[in-house]
Amino acid sequence: MIGGKLFFTFAVILLFQYAACDHWSYPDRNSTNVSFPLWGGLCDVGNRQSPIDLSISGALKGNFPDIDYRNYDKPLTSPSLVNNGHTVKLTKFDVEMTMTGGPLNDKFIVEELHLHWWSEHTIDKIRYPMEAHIVHRNTRYSNISEAAAHKDGIAVVGVLFHASNQPNVGIGKIVENIEFINSADDIDKAVTIEQKLNLRELFPRLSGGYLSYPGSLTTPSCAESVTWLVLLDTFPVTLDQVNKFKGVETYGGKKLSDNYRDLQRKNNRPVLVVHQDSSSAPAPINMSAMSLFGSIVVIYISKFLQ
Ligand SMILES: *[C@@H]1O[C@H](CO)[C@@H](O)[C@H](O)[C@H]1NC(C)=O
Ligand SMILES: *[C@@H]1O[C@H](CO)[C@@H](O)[C@H](O)[C@H]1NC(C)=O
Ligand SMILES: *[C@@H]1O[C@H](CO)[C@@H](O)[C@H](O)[C@H]1NC(C)=O
Ligand SMILES: *[C@@H]1O[C@H](CO)[C@@H](O)[C@H](O)[C@H]1NC(C)=O
Ligand SMILES: [Zn+2]
Repeated sequence: MIGGKLFFTFAVILLFQYAACDHWSYPDRNSTNVSFPLWGGLCDVGNRQSPIDLSISGALKGNFPDIDYRNYDKPLTSPSLVNNGHTVKLTKFDVEMTMTGGPLNDKFIVEELHLHWWSEHTIDKIRYPMEAHIVHRNTRYSNISEAAAHKDGIAVVGVLFHASNQPNVGIGKIVENIEFINSADDIDKAVTIEQKLNLRELFPRLSGGYLSYPGSLTTPSCAESVTWLVLLDTFPVTLDQVNKFKGVETYGGKKLSDNYRDLQRKNNRPVLVVHQDSSSAPAPINMSAMSLFGSIVVIYISKFLQ
């Protein structure tokens, strides 16, 4: 009987912790004078937390072999799209997408891709309208939770999107499915994307340079196990596309109007800038395709948000 009672108490504590950790939230930035909530654990006391502001001129030059991205352009058959109450994420990839090289000592495999509306990282203090995180697990570890327990367990490629009048094809395919997952009743209910999609449709070029630094997950548990690779290239998205995400609901039917974490202390961590000379002659950024209006809006709003 005592064992039963103990077990019951234990189960209640576990349930409570589960519920508590699942219901962390972003601050309501519409209200004035709100401070960023404490998320607990390493999120509050860690010393290599993410995101941070990345200064290109303040970064040290890194020299590494080119990163070898494999299969990112292969079409995915019916990946899952989920609203988990904090982000919209793509999972269940039937193609093994891997990355080696650069500052990485091991082979890393893609586990999921999710989005933040308003970027989490800023580059030279500029906050972009959207950031994608392609979360990779070190293949040395058997699953993502085990990987999160090691400082070399996870590599995240961060991709920033700039406002343009040119829609993003990959994000467009996610937007076409967003109505099936945007209500609070849909939280954690995955839908299958029927359109043919490959990750390169979100970011047509991966071979350019990147900024790299040691950091953490930007959501609880904030595990300090992430090698960050934030691409120097940014890719177009329309503000109409971004606004579709601002209608996604979180717990209690509240709109997830943004989902970026505040900038964290850098604590003297070195940030490396790596310029890659890819043999596959990279296309220069087409400035005429980027609307001047969009860029002004981004710069203006990002100043406002600092
Ligand atoms: C904002 O919040 C802080 C701490 O909660 C408080 O000390 C300060 O007076 C507040 N300012 C305004 C303008 O409400
Ligand atoms: C992850 O891997 C570890 C070590 O192999 C194992 O103990 C644990 O049960 C796994 N967790 C999940 C969620 O599969
Ligand atoms: C924040 O304000 C914007 C613009 O006024 C509005 O569209 C949005 O729904 C608000 N978000 C929340 C969470 O209240
Ligand atoms: C640049 O973008 C414009 C507008 O989308 C397009 O008409 C033009 O062909 C593009 N130029 C190149 C070199 O891709
Ligand atoms: Zn993220």
